[in-house]
Amino acid sequence: MSIINAVDIAHVRFVVPDLAAQRAFLKDFGLIEVGEQAGWVYLRAAGPAPFCYAVREGDARFAGFGLLARDLADLHAVAAHDGVPVEPLDAPGGGWIARFTDPDGIPVEVVAGQTLAEPLPTVRPDTWNEGDGHQRIARFRRTATGPSTVLRIGHVLLSITDFARTEPWYKDRFGLLTSDEIQPAPNVAIGAFMRSNQGETPSDHHTVACVQTGGPPGLLHSAFEVLGLDNLMAGHDHLKAQGYTPSWGIGRHILGSQVFDYWRDPHGFEIEHWTDGDQLRASDGGGRAGMDQVLGVQWGMQMPAPPAPPG
Ligand SMILES: [Fe+2]
Repeated sequence: MSIINAVDIAHVRFVVPDLAAQRAFLKDFGLIEVGEQAGWVYLRAAGPAPFCYAVREGDARFAGFGLLARDLADLHAVAAHDGVPVEPLDAPGGGWIARFTDPDGIPVEVVAGQTLAEPLPTVRPDTWNEGDGHQRIARFRRTATGPSTVLRIGHVLLSITDFARTEPWYKDRFGLLTSDEIQPAPNVAIGAFMRSNQGETPSDHHTVACVQTGGPPGLLHSAFEVLGLDNLMAGHDHLKAQGYTPSWGIGRHILGSQVFDYWRDPHGFEIEHWTDGDQLRASDGGGRAGMDQVLGVQWGMQMPAPPAPPG
């Protein structure tokens, strides 16, 4: 029994030396600035979350991520468990925040009581004329060009040093459930794709994923859901036309099944557009997966080899 069941991921925070370059990239990625508070620039997606990305100027670093608590009572419960204060959240939407540090020193913020924003209007993609039944009759498919329509933040993938420590840390506090445990050899667990526990309400296949990489702990990527496949492809063309650096994609993951498109922001942080991911209820349980499934694709571009270490 966990202290709370976190509802979802809420946001990510970054510190970067070239704030102007980062802001330009994020606009082309599809995020929308909603203001500056206490030195942070806040950006939202089209969904109702008041913000999902925060960035400020300084030496480049990943400054942590936020999880959404169901309500203030849950926020107080989990804060009390670790003896950390609940403080006002000085950000768009207001609310309250408690700040934690995971076993690898990664900042984890839990938020609650935010005032939701009015969702931004989006153009829903028309029906696909799939081969087994044509639904779109005398309507012509046209896809808008420009940045993808980002709906929400979906997950982070963390590099960790010790899964045996990290897994209970997240599960005990936030009630995360394993969708797929990463086992490079039978009964050798080095990470997991974990989802939120919302009972019979389906949630993303993974909200927080972590894996022992052998490298330093921190963020491997943050990921944002877009409107659909055409929207993802149009966003890919847009980022490419602006001269940004594609990282991996386009393809379809095995674990989570998302169609993915990874980019490097101007400071080298990896960031993902995805669509059409798997949804699981708490009762759907979890599985195990080898590295071939973690890194493999159902179709599309294979994961590029990591850059050679210096020297
Ligand atoms: Fe991802």
